[in-house]
Amino acid sequence: MITKTVRIDENKIDAALIKEAGEIIKSGGLVAFPTETVYGLGGDALNPESSKKIYAAKGRPSDNPLIVHIYRIEDLEKVAKSVSENAKKVIDAFWPGPLTLIFEKTDAVPKETTGGLDTVAVRFPIHPTAMAFIEAAGGFVAAPSANLSGRPSPTLAKYVCEDLNGRVDMIIDGGNIPIGLESTIVDMTSEVPMILRPGFVSKEMLEEVLGEVRVDPTILDANSKERPKAPGMRYRHYAPKADMAIVRGDEEKVIEKINEIAKEHEGCTVICVDENADKYHGVNLKKVGKKEDALEIASNLYKVLRECDDEGVEYILSESFSDKGIGAAVMNRLIKAAGHKIIDV
Ligand code: TXA
Ligand code: MG
Repeated sequence: MITKTVRIDENKIDAALIKEAGEIIKSGGLVAFPTETVYGLGGDALNPESSKKIYAAKGRPSDNPLIVHIYRIEDLEKVAKSVSENAKKVIDAFWPGPLTLIFEKTDAVPKETTGGLDTVAVRFPIHPTAMAFIEAAGGFVAAPSANLSGRPSPTLAKYVCEDLNGRVDMIIDGGNIPIGLESTIVDMTSEVPMILRPGFVSKEMLEEVLGEVRVDPTILDANSKERPKAPGMRYRHYAPKADMAIVRGDEEKVIEKINEIAKEHEGCTVICVDENADKYHGVNLKKVGKKEDALEIASNLYKVLRECDDEGVEYILSESFSDKGIGAAVMNRLIKAAGHKIIDV
């Protein structure tokens, strides 16, 4: 298959190109598109054949459900059986935006899209190009992140091309992605809403609206024997090809420890905050952003991990970052990337 790549500026959306992208989805094809979190790999959410194609293009196990993206709130009832008072509150507060909610599904949503589950994940993104594209596509776009299964989610169109060229009909290059980590997922089917995947919309933000919110215990505990409620969270995700460890603890000790370990690993790459860059010696450095700017760190993390792959890096040591706000999502992805290898100092 020949993949057509087009550039669409979110501030000046090209109506003809968006229409073309929408037609591809309506006729059962696949289009990668930008959202405010990461690039998505879209197909018609209500067409089982499209969902099968998404799994094939990504090389993803078909029991790992897809997120259904909508562009207006009126369409929620077509895919979600009921919307609780709690769900209405979070929707009012955070939609459109980087938040995915789980509901009981209606019959309109094929099981191929939900990986066989009776629930459906729904997201209403705020990225202007995503919204225009979903509308042109008929209103319901199933989309996982636009990476090959097991690779970091793409935050630039060139990474989408690397993974999916020849596997999708079109790639919409929307330039930079503002957040750079996947949406927060909250299960609204349980009595107390539960965070299944941390993201930009933090636990604290949700608590302000809902009062009580729980976090899927498997997110917090690497050794948990329980199965995560979001099937995707159990795969080794977000993984660079290199062996990777995180060094955690008092900042000075972390720097000392990283320098010490780096001496034994020639060509070691260190992921650090900007402020510490000049404190490492004889290593390749990847700066992720300013210490206090968790959003900057979030938006650079996957890019840095991909660069390590591209450069053939074999060993990565990373500092541990703040886990406040979106920092919780940063640390969740970082720990997964490291296969839970943490050195405490
Ligand atoms: O930011 C995002 O959410 C991006 C953009 C493209 O919207 N999408 C994304 O999709 O990250 P994906 O497929 O890479 O991750 C979706 C996650 C998976 O872990 C999946 O298991 C979980 O959502 N999920 C989907 N439907 C679910 C359901 N019904 N119940 C529990 N977890 C579900
Ligand atoms: Mg993904």
